[in-house]
Amino acid sequence: MKKTAIFYHSSHHDNTKKLVSGIEGVEAFPVNQAGEAALSQYRLIGLASGVYMGKPHASLLELAGKIAQDSRGNPPEIFAVCTSGSGGKGYARRFQAQLEELGLPVVGAFSCRGFDTFGPWKLVGGIAKRHPDQRDLEAFRAFLERLRKS
Ligand SMILES: Cc1cc2nc3c(=O)[nH]c(=O)nc-3n(C[C@H](O)[C@H](O)[C@H](O)COP(=O)(O)O)c2cc1C
Repeated sequence: MKKTAIFYHSSHHDNTKKLVSGIEGVEAFPVNQAGEAALSQYRLIGLASGVYMGKPHASLLELAGKIAQDSRGNPPEIFAVCTSGSGGKGYARRFQAQLEELGLPVVGAFSCRGFDTFGPWKLVGGIAKRHPDQRDLEAFRAFLERLRKS
């Protein structure tokens, strides 16, 4: 199994934090603590975020740039994770493309829905209630297991 870390930004309802935390053998850190982690010890790194106005939080791309720069010649495998109110897969795919543009080897992208009370959704009590749910968590763990073994 590859030594794995996930760095996340999760500021709306802790949806992304809930998805990526508490997985055996996988260290999850808020992205603003990445400076304290010895990044070079990980061979598989996940970059995970809620989607805000169509994009993951900018801090993830910043960290990706740093990883690309510091690990030149021997970068870790990277995967992209997005939670969003709509659950659209395009967000994580676009994020993946941005990471690839930095020269990082992206080995997967995962998307799921996350409880969303932004803007008008608040008036109706939010959308994607209870997401990420048990099925989302199981799907993410299966995705991760494939990446860690391959
Ligand atoms: C400011 C803001 C903007 C958002 N924009 C989008 C969006 O463009 N598309 C979408 O599907 N969901 C959008 N959402 C919903 C979040 O992506 C969703 O709730 C996500 O799971 C939040 O993750 P978090 O709880 O980890 O922060 C937005 C939420 C906020 C607060």
